[in-house]
Amino acid sequence: MTEPLDRRITLRGFSVPTFFYGTAWKEKETERLTAQALEVGFRAIDTANQRKHYFEAAVGKAVQAAIGAGVVERSGLFLQSKFTHRRGQDQRLPYDAKADIPTQVAQSFQSSLEHFATDYLDSYVLHGPSQQKGLAEEDRAALRALLELQQSGKARLLGVSNVNLGQLQEAARVLGAPPAFVQNRCFASTGWDRPVRDYCREHGVRYQAFSLLTANSDVLGTEVVQRVASRLGASASQVVFRFALEVGMIPLTGTSNADHARADLAVFDLEPLSPDELEQLAHVGESSRWG
Ligand SMILES: NC(=O)c1ccc[n+]([C@@H]2O[C@H](COP(=O)([O-])OP(=O)(O)OC[C@H]3O[C@@H](n4cnc5c(N)ncnc54)[C@H](OP(=O)(O)O)[C@@H]3O)[C@@H](O)[C@H]2O)c1
Repeated sequence: MTEPLDRRITLRGFSVPTFFYGTAWKEKETERLTAQALEVGFRAIDTANQRKHYFEAAVGKAVQAAIGAGVVERSGLFLQSKFTHRRGQDQRLPYDAKADIPTQVAQSFQSSLEHFATDYLDSYVLHGPSQQKGLAEEDRAALRALLELQQSGKARLLGVSNVNLGQLQEAARVLGAPPAFVQNRCFASTGWDRPVRDYCREHGVRYQAFSLLTANSDVLGTEVVQRVASRLGASASQVVFRFALEVGMIPLTGTSNADHARADLAVFDLEPLSPDELEQLAHVGESSRWG
């Protein structure tokens, strides 16, 4: 691959940054760290209206302040949030627990719009199916409600998260077409979620990868990652992010550290990986033959 990596792509008519900043687990630091990410240059923000793990109102405050200060324009920002089922939430709910699923989705979405003081989200994601195998009726109802939001123009693109291949295929049937995004935890030991990524590539779905570093700490020290890092003058973390981008993933980082945030975005400027390096990295977690 010799062409420069795209910092933005066009997906179904919408401009999408190819590296997302994730806002989970930041609590009181959420506003400051979201502001920091925008200052450093991230233009896509991932969150969820799930107070248990995210503080979406604080993310929204940082975004509004950055827009107000002229750091970014709303049109240049990509805002993604999620609907989280009752059992993924604590008592701080963004909807009426007794309401039906379509009402819960509508209430959660409206609350997200208010957090960001915006009238649309760039992407809206079903946080996860309510069961491990297949989709339940409440998942199908949530997906149909997401589709309504998209048809109203308030949610531009749709996604599903924490899905296996069967669930993704079923979601595509409910939506009438494959979603724009899948957001999954990406383990090198599964060929970096190969079956799901293969489906995504074949169906024009963009794969968003989280936990690329934390789920693969064993991979960072392998001979192949270290060799590539040394050739590029980069860190092992940067090699993983660069690999993810080159194979078409959208990586997420939730770094709290400004230097790491800059290092993460600097992977766009690294030398391309060679075909051999790409092949070795593609299989690095599956066996010890490379490392
Ligand atoms: N859909 C879901 O269910 C789901 C689940 C989990 C996460 N997510 C999303 O994905 C986002 C990212 O989460 P994550 O699980 O990938 O983990 P993360 O919160 O991004 O943690 C990444 C770890 O990597 C470190 N790191 C980042 N850049 C680095 C660098 N250049 N050098 C060294 N260390 C570096 C960070 O440490 P420092 O802070 O010190 O840099 C941090 O400890 C979340 O915020 C959330 O938006 C979604």
